Amino acid sequence: MNKQKTISETPIDIEKIRADFPILSKKVNGKKLIYFDNGATSQKPVQVIDAIANYYKDQNANIHRGVHTLSQEITVLYEKARATVQKHLNAKSANEIVFTSGTTESINLVAHSFAKKFINKGDEVIVTAMEHHSNILPWQQVCEERGALLKVVPINNEGELIMEEYKKLLSDKTKIIAVAHISNTLGTVNPVKEIIKLAHEKNIPVLLDGAQAVPHTSVDVQELDADFYCFSGHKLFGPTGVGILYGKEKWLNELPPYKVGGGTIKTVTFEKTEYADVPLRFEAGTPHIEGGIGLAAAIDYVNDIGLDKIAAYEHELLIYATAALQKIEGVKIIGTAKNKASVISFVVEGIHAFDLGTILDQLGIAVRTGHHCTQPLMAHYCIQGTVRAAFAFYNTKEEIDEFIKGLERAIAMLK
Ligand code: ALA
Repeated sequence: MNKQKTISETPIDIEKIRADFPILSKKVNGKKLIYFDNGATSQKPVQVIDAIANYYKDQNANIHRGVHTLSQEITVLYEKARATVQKHLNAKSANEIVFTSGTTESINLVAHSFAKKFINKGDEVIVTAMEHHSNILPWQQVCEERGALLKVVPINNEGELIMEEYKKLLSDKTKIIAVAHISNTLGTVNPVKEIIKLAHEKNIPVLLDGAQAVPHTSVDVQELDADFYCFSGHKLFGPTGVGILYGKEKWLNELPPYKVGGGTIKTVTFEKTEYADVPLRFEAGTPHIEGGIGLAAAIDYVNDIGLDKIAAYEHELLIYATAALQKIEGVKIIGTAKNKASVISFVVEGIHAFDLGTILDQLGIAVRTGHHCTQPLMAHYCIQGTVRAAFAFYNTKEEIDEFIKGLERAIAMLK
């Protein structure tokens, strides 16, 4: 991901791509929208919007429930979407792909089901200092419930995990490790393959929070040897309200159901229920059908461009923006890891992030400000929050130039 390349060498047709995203031609506060809040959610191409609209215009029925034609056709399409996700992650089997409502639900599912069976008093769960609250709170909750301890891998000032400390935390008491593949606040790309290898030497499973990774890089769960991998559709240019839990089949088969209800069973009597096989055992109720179909359209879209090309282009944007920000007096970048995705957090001496964000918004520039759901990470840096610009493949150097101009203007006004 940190391979040096210039934009001119990068075979990405930026004009054609931008034309696919209707919202990018919108004006905000009278100015052309510059959307850098891609870490919070990404914009959607017409291909995704059309897939969702077409579902309601032409295909709407429930899945796995009807003998009628519409129901059968949409069931086939929904399962095809699952197969698209399987192929995208290079999972061994479609049974390893569970549709959820998003990363948060995927992590909650694993935390609660896994804890019920495998976590007991005195056991330990490892997370890291840079986790999103969604990859802290479920573990904190199950640790409290089960009398287990939450251990935290510390980071250095660049925002990289201190691997020597990680190794020291691994023990016979460790039951599971939950780590962000890419940090939403710092952009750090964590050495997840090494983390998993070290954990597996002690037979400890690893869950990766891939919410911020899947929009920027290709993921091969077999190559990583990940036990669980979670992500959300809406950060990957797909719909909100749909997400994925990948789990090795051997692990999913071990986990008790999380939410139960329609769709999760083989037989029910008042005395006993026999649950369905994975993945349906974890998909209670009518799912987000158009979400699954829209997510598959989003995956097809990024694969048509090519994730390697996307990563190379975004890296160039990262280098360009980093260099420009470093020239502005008073700006301090938070998160300077060697291996970074196209996410830049920064603070400006003496100025509140919200104030900067508000002025940038007046200029049509959308950034995220605040703690980014990573309060423990903010505590590590002794700050309240940052301004965060997260770039996607539809952003441009020209937009970065406008952002830098806007930022300089905002700083001059607020000083
Ligand atoms: N987790 C999302 C973010 O980082 C919402 O903005």
